[in-house]
Amino acid sequence: MAQVGEPTLEGPQVRLRPPTEADYLAVFRWYNDAEIVAPFDRFEIDTWESFVAAIESAPGDPRSVAPRWIVEERTDGRTLGFVGFYAPHPILEFLDVWYVVGDRERRGRGLGTEAVRLMIDHLFRTQRIERIGATCDVENVPSFRLLERLKLRQEGRLARALFHHGGWHDVLVYGITRAEWSAAAPKG
Ligand SMILES: CC(C)(COP(=O)(O)OP(=O)(O)OC[C@H]1O[C@@H](n2cnc3c(N)ncnc32)[C@H](O)[C@@H]1OP(=O)(O)O)[C@@H](O)C(=O)NCCC(=O)NCCS
Repeated sequence: MAQVGEPTLEGPQVRLRPPTEADYLAVFRWYNDAEIVAPFDRFEIDTWESFVAAIESAPGDPRSVAPRWIVEERTDGRTLGFVGFYAPHPILEFLDVWYVVGDRERRGRGLGTEAVRLMIDHLFRTQRIERIGATCDVENVPSFRLLERLKLRQEGRLARALFHHGGWHDVLVYGITRAEWSAAAPKG
């Protein structure tokens, strides 16, 4: 059964809103397209049933890596992609964010950065945490540029931590504290 999702978040160019059934097919197609979601990541084909179950149970599950918001462009309402967050560690108290701009034509226009900024703002406002992080393959230039644009700090490098496309890859660890975010992140 669907649970109460996240609130809608409005930025200057993009809106983040909880997924509805009308979004499922488009997101499922992107989700199952390795070229879109995982050029630098592990990839597994999902079934429709497990995809829907994951999306609908995500609001009650802090560890869920299912999409939590649809990203749409405000001017024309076009669906651009999806984003989410999860608690990656069983003991340490922080959240990692992740993000996909599925609509390739609209990449490189700052929309992914704005979507992640809205999500981090919201998480610091609503969650009792002091750190938000993200990880990405060392070769995923758009992803770590996005994080650096938002002033997340590179905290380390996990050697050979991720297997994809037939090989082991190093992963960059990024993070920002609540105080750093308040002081440094551009707002709006
Ligand atoms: C990562 C992703 C969300 C970025 O979305 P986007 O809307 O294109 O990002 P932005 O336009 O806000 O740009 C963010 C930064 O990446 C850079 N960038 C964007 N596309 C790029 C490309 N193809 N090559 C190199 N840099 C690129 C931008 O120039 C910008 O950096 P800058 O501040 O130095 O100019 C998008 O590329 C994507 O969905 N990738 C596939 C999924 C993925 O890898 N997600 C992250 C998992 S860790």
